[in-house]
Amino acid sequence: MADDLETFIKALPKAELHVHLEGCLTPQLAETLAKRNGMPLPDSVKKASTAEGFAFHDLTSFLAVYYPAMEVLQTAEDFADLAMDYLTKAHEQNVRYVELFFDPQAHTSRGVPFPTVVNGYRNGLLQAQRELGISAGLIMCFLRDMSVEFAMATLMDALPYKDVIIGVGLDSDERGNPPRKFAKVFGRARQEGFLLTMHCDIDQQDSVKHIRQAVHDIGVDRIDHGTNIVEDAELVELVRQKAIGLTCCPVSNSVVTSDFKGKEILQLLRQGVRVTLNSDDPAYFRGYVNENIFKVAWETDVTRKELVQFQRNAFAVSWLSSWRRDRYLEELDVYAKEKGAC
Ligand code: HPA
Ligand code: ZN
Repeated sequence: MADDLETFIKALPKAELHVHLEGCLTPQLAETLAKRNGMPLPDSVKKASTAEGFAFHDLTSFLAVYYPAMEVLQTAEDFADLAMDYLTKAHEQNVRYVELFFDPQAHTSRGVPFPTVVNGYRNGLLQAQRELGISAGLIMCFLRDMSVEFAMATLMDALPYKDVIIGVGLDSDERGNPPRKFAKVFGRARQEGFLLTMHCDIDQQDSVKHIRQAVHDIGVDRIDHGTNIVEDAELVELVRQKAIGLTCCPVSNSVVTSDFKGKEILQLLRQGVRVTLNSDDPAYFRGYVNENIFKVAWETDVTRKELVQFQRNAFAVSWLSSWRRDRYLEELDVYAKEKGAC
């Protein structure tokens, strides 16, 4: 029985909407890039191959490992290889479409030019589309623990790249960095035609307050994580009515908090909120999208029909054009019908 469900999940056509490109940097790829660039492997990566493994237990300690590892990313080819590495794995898991976060400020702040980053990622996306048939777009995240001025300058850098950057997001350390801090930047991004999302991480000091700000003050199209919304019934109803997607990441939750929040994610799904299942930083949390779905499948009473609904939500709240979205939804419906899961 368990094997049947595993097969069902593996073959399910999927969309992934919450995955950080820099979070796809495996220790193996980091080693290859370090060698190619003639530089030592960063200490935080060296630790990954020891018995101790990566050392983090919450968002702050994770970020302290995550940013130093990125130093191995130097050339456009490095960024292209990183994108291709992840998209190859996603393709193997029957992911059809991905919206990928990237953190340009983590690179420009150490001297890598903005065009090197975006042209590199774009090349990786084009190669994956050509060779594997998997489609993807980029979401540029501002680092919320950096200044508003730096975020605005980064937005200006992005304007010539609207062909591949489809939206903007907000990530990094949430403590003391509320959505409202970036209202002006997100307002300008909206004017420029970018779609809007932002992280409201799990169990933060002001999680619900931040979700409220994201919805009311920023007018986001989606929220990344956002699971703490279950604490406020009115806000849940508003998000449901507005059809705002929540991109949840069970395996990531289980690493940076004491719980994977499966119960809350399923509760939201059953209340009609457009929740989706995603991997966040798969190279660090050791779970791509299938492993995230397995976790929910093994550890909750989710049904097959609901597993299909998570994917229906993902395509529905994706930023695809309506005709492309409908094509993927049709494929999903055919699969669900064939497996008696609708
Ligand atoms: N939260 C905030 N910042 C991040 C994350 C996350 O889950 N992953 C990578 N940067
Ligand atoms: Zn994230």
